[in-house]
Amino acid sequence: MHVLGIESSCDETGVALYDSNKGLVAHALHSQIAIHQVHGGVVPELASRDHIQHIVPLVDDVLNQASIDKQALDAIAYTQGPGLQGALLVGAAFAKSLSFALGIPSFGVHHLEAHLMAAMLDDETLAFPFTALLVSGGHTQLLRAEALGEYELIGETLDDAVGEAFDKTAKLMGIDYPGGPKLAALADEASSSEGLPEIAPFPRPMVSRPGCDLSFSGLKTHVSLVWEKSAKDDKAKVAIAKAFQDAVVETLCIKVARALKQTGHQSLVVAGGVGANQALRAALKAQCSDRIKLYFPRLAFCTDNGAMVAYTGYLHLAKGSRDPSHAITVHARWPFAEVE
Ligand code: KG4
Ligand code: ZN
Repeated sequence: MHVLGIESSCDETGVALYDSNKGLVAHALHSQIAIHQVHGGVVPELASRDHIQHIVPLVDDVLNQASIDKQALDAIAYTQGPGLQGALLVGAAFAKSLSFALGIPSFGVHHLEAHLMAAMLDDETLAFPFTALLVSGGHTQLLRAEALGEYELIGETLDDAVGEAFDKTAKLMGIDYPGGPKLAALADEASSSEGLPEIAPFPRPMVSRPGCDLSFSGLKTHVSLVWEKSAKDDKAKVAIAKAFQDAVVETLCIKVARALKQTGHQSLVVAGGVGANQALRAALKAQCSDRIKLYFPRLAFCTDNGAMVAYTGYLHLAKGSRDPSHAITVHARWPFAEVE
């Protein structure tokens, strides 16, 4: 089965081809960073227009890489939500039109499920059930993943998502969009930097409260107070980035330990853009010992991509799932618990 996957939920157009015999055979990505950077964040209308311009060339590129013709496709999977309404509509309209023209089925994939499945794409030893930490720009959730399409939320952020907190913290220190990875890189510089200002450890939000819920907006406010009192120079940026990252990583590790205790699972999947964070990866590896097996997607597939959509679509299509009609429907909001 050849499944074409299309991702267009935010500021990345991703296309990939998954082959049930060979695995992932081709993928291509176009990032809109340059377009949104001048505005300091994603401008939804610009995102939609850019998806329109890149989707067809990316599909052609993927088919060329795979040396197959459109006629050889068996199904098309696309991100149906959650995400920006207009951006989602571009991918959905394209995918459904192409599937209609080719007379093949389509399937609308849940973006967050696709993030989780990215870990399975690269490591077939990963099997359900597992506990998942999903940390992206729009979501921060701890989940019990029982089977494909069967997820139970066991904790989530009550305000900002972790990626959002990274981005907003970076922005308030004058670091360009998308600030998250840049802030993380500054934090990682701290160990080799000399003469950094001393900064008291930042609070670990919600750790004294029972349960697995999280909150990051207070941490962002804390950063803003410390930044205002600092010399506002490069050294202050490095020291604050480090204190911020340490607080986020330790908080996530504490909540992950609680979630694992609650589920009793022996596998942990960490997915979403912030799953690319090296400090988080190292801390979870150190914490997980031999009893818990830890899975991450490859770095390039932590952030949005078409491969995770093609693969997740394939898993559902192989079980017989299909879009119920040719209607083009997207869900800007789509609770994880309602995947299937
Ligand atoms: O999953 P993703 O590509 O998009 C959403 O579905 O939201 O995640 C993007 C988020 C951004 O907030 C970005 O700043 C953050 O992931 N991010 C990171 C790192 N790489 C990406 N945050 C911290 N450390 C990183 N290395
Ligand atoms: Zn995403």
